[in-house]
Amino acid sequence: MSSRLFTPLRIGELELANRIAIAPMCQYSAVDGSMTDWHLMHLGTLALSGAGMLTIEATGVRPDGRITSQCVGLYSDANEAAIKRVVEFCRSISPIRIGIQLSHAGRKGSSQRPWEGRGPLEPGQGAWETVAPSALPLAAGWPTPLALALSEMESIKQSFVAAAQRSASIGLDYIELHSTHGYLLAEFLSPLANRRTDDYGGSLENRMRFPLEVFAALRKAWPAGKPLGAKITGSDFAAGGWTPDEAVVYARELKKLGCDYVTVSGGGTVLDAKIPVGPGYQVPFAEQVLKETGITTGAIGLITDAQQAEQILAGGKADFIALARAMLFNPRWPQHAAVTLGVEAAYAPQYERAAPKAWRPGRTLGKVG
Ligand SMILES: Cc1cc2nc3c(=O)[nH]c(=O)nc-3n(C[C@H](O)[C@H](O)[C@H](O)COP(=O)(O)O)c2cc1C
Repeated sequence: MSSRLFTPLRIGELELANRIAIAPMCQYSAVDGSMTDWHLMHLGTLALSGAGMLTIEATGVRPDGRITSQCVGLYSDANEAAIKRVVEFCRSISPIRIGIQLSHAGRKGSSQRPWEGRGPLEPGQGAWETVAPSALPLAAGWPTPLALALSEMESIKQSFVAAAQRSASIGLDYIELHSTHGYLLAEFLSPLANRRTDDYGGSLENRMRFPLEVFAALRKAWPAGKPLGAKITGSDFAAGGWTPDEAVVYARELKKLGCDYVTVSGGGTVLDAKIPVGPGYQVPFAEQVLKETGITTGAIGLITDAQQAEQILAGGKADFIALARAMLFNPRWPQHAAVTLGVEAAYAPQYERAAPKAWRPGRTLGKVG
């Protein structure tokens, strides 16, 4: 049997064993931006899954660009060494390709961890002043961010560049620019968060300007053959917000700048969005972006089942599948999907006897173990 999900994919100079990507997932478990043993366990477990690519969680390019005080950052030598330790550990146990999502949280920074309420940090809890394209709070009860001046935007761009240089020193395989879910770059893109009256607000061309400038600066700083992708918004799911047609234009501009892939997600810009959550609810956005731009495209959003993933790819709706919650629920998802689809998946040698084909009656456990 053959499977599209388990057909190799090439992105830039990177050969991926299959079309399963593990989406970035914040763990809120860093100390001063530095990964801890939690990340060693979390990313180590996911590295053994048999997926083709593993993207490290949204990583703040500066301390005030983190979502919470416990988010991972890449702005200090200590942060760099901590990520390197975890990446080298993952590499010692798995051939999975490892990338990092670089991010600035914008007006969604200075937040509490999900299990501590998700609200804005209170004074005394280490709150910091947030920044955004415009002085518009995320929602009632949230602090009003400072509208960024041009010199501060330049400084943030340079922080992205510095983090890309650190990513190169670590030896990461790819970078993904976070430009969705209502964080800083998505705030520039969305008319719901961007009310600027200068060259960075108003028309779509103006709203895209800063994210595209950041992308172009990253492309210059990041080795040419190494993939540089972006996670983008298909829809804000809110009246007057970002639309799938705008996603197509943005993806096309990114492609012109040397973007190797996009993953098309959505939501997060405003808290009262009406998101029609259901199986594959964002796949139509990926399909539209892929068909209208030809850029290598990942689909994401409640893709949980092997046949569902296979059908999305076989139907030409995406080039790869990204999974978040299903991978946390079942870190062996790719190996289970391979069994369902009747193909072979990779296992660490220590786990080879876990593969059901090794369970055949008549097979002994061997002389040892
Ligand atoms: C625990 C958790 C942490 C997440 N952190 C990030 C993140 O760091 N960056 C990001 O782009 N999306 C993040 N997401 C969103 C997922 O990557 C994904 O876009 C979303 O969950 C939909 O995919 P799913 O249905 O497969 O979970 C997170 C999701 C979860 C469940």
